[in-house]
Amino acid sequence: MNDYRSVRVALLGGGTVGANVAKILLEHADELAARVGARLELTGIAVRNLSAKRPVDLPASLFTTDAHELILGADIVIEVMGGIEPAREYILEALGSGADVVTANKALLANHGPELFAAAERVGAQVYYEAAVAGAIPIIRPLRESLAGDRVERVMGIVNGTTNYILDRMDSEKDSFDSALAMATELGYAEADPTADVDAFDAAQKVAILAGLAFHTHVPLETVYREGIRGISAEVVELARYAGFVIKLLAIAERVTDATTGRESISARVYPALIPREHPLASVRKANNAVFVQSEAAGSLMFYGAGAGGPETASAIMGDVVSAARRHIMGGPGLGESQHADLPVIPINDIETSYHVVLRVADQPGVLATVASVFHEYNVSVELVEQGVFTPQTGPASKRATTTLVIGTHEARESDLAATVTALSKLPVVDSVVSVLRVEGA
Ligand code: HSE
Repeated sequence: MNDYRSVRVALLGGGTVGANVAKILLEHADELAARVGARLELTGIAVRNLSAKRPVDLPASLFTTDAHELILGADIVIEVMGGIEPAREYILEALGSGADVVTANKALLANHGPELFAAAERVGAQVYYEAAVAGAIPIIRPLRESLAGDRVERVMGIVNGTTNYILDRMDSEKDSFDSALAMATELGYAEADPTADVDAFDAAQKVAILAGLAFHTHVPLETVYREGIRGISAEVVELARYAGFVIKLLAIAERVTDATTGRESISARVYPALIPREHPLASVRKANNAVFVQSEAAGSLMFYGAGAGGPETASAIMGDVVSAARRHIMGGPGLGESQHADLPVIPINDIETSYHVVLRVADQPGVLATVASVFHEYNVSVELVEQGVFTPQTGPASKRATTTLVIGTHEARESDLAATVTALSKLPVVDSVVSVLRVEGA
């Protein structure tokens, strides 16, 4: 094995993912050398605190607090520290010195992707980021390479394990949101401050990355529509179950073609939505992730597995390291980002989906007609109406006899539906709007 050349690999970050990457590099060194055609020499692990406890036993001599020195001597720099700074500074430094970069940093890519990609292109290096979206699941490479000759129409995924765990518990155990969140925290899925997951910031970053790859367009994070799951109560989950749906936090990137002009744009959005129980994404349980891709020639593809975790994320990182090392010894420039399509991202108001609107209304003659006339007034076509199928246990007490109306719509513009719901909420016969959810995958 000694006749192999060597590729110097610097690791920035020694947390759960970093320690597992180091473990694989050390334990499988011979096998990796045979696959790559060069030895992957782990030159060091840059950390903030040398005495912090590590999830894996690693030689103390590998650790350093001097990231700059490590970066200078590296052919490949792996960044698994997270956060924007100093990760951004270190990555730019690595690319500036001609090293390839492997990162799991979705926040950095979603906010500063173009800057990093431009820096890579200037020197013929490459930024690899399979681990940034959906952990162990190969989805970046399939979109970037396997489907590069096809036309992707839609990417719909469960890309946040914490919220999937919470929603799954609310569905299968009939837990409240608070109790499911507490369990997610206890199991280590949710952070002490669960905002990034629960309010869908994490999923929005991931869908910005996926949309950019799928549609060969830069998708700024601020153009991604984002709604989290705090408004999903046990009652709303039960209503969904009753109607044959399950609620999932869906990250959607979609090609939208204007029927009149034929002009194309894209939509990137994340929100909790109803999906039919028989849809492949409905069976994604616990903290797992899955991404459902529809493309012109390939049809429907589903990628499923662990979206987080030390060893799982390390697997995705190591796939990138092997690719980068192979290219390093073969020579040739890195694969740049393909953004030639440069499609506009349309706002949520212009999106068309179907909805389920649940109302608590006065149980008296003429109410159905009054409610239906509001949908008509705002150009929203009603597909189904069910009355009295479910009695909400929460919400304001009513002095009159009430019943529940579940109204399913055909596809309607988001802005028209929003206007409909505002008008409905002002009707004297409507006690409360129990829920408004989009339907996907039906
Ligand atoms: N917090 C994320 C999740 C994992 O719950 O899926 C890292 O992206």
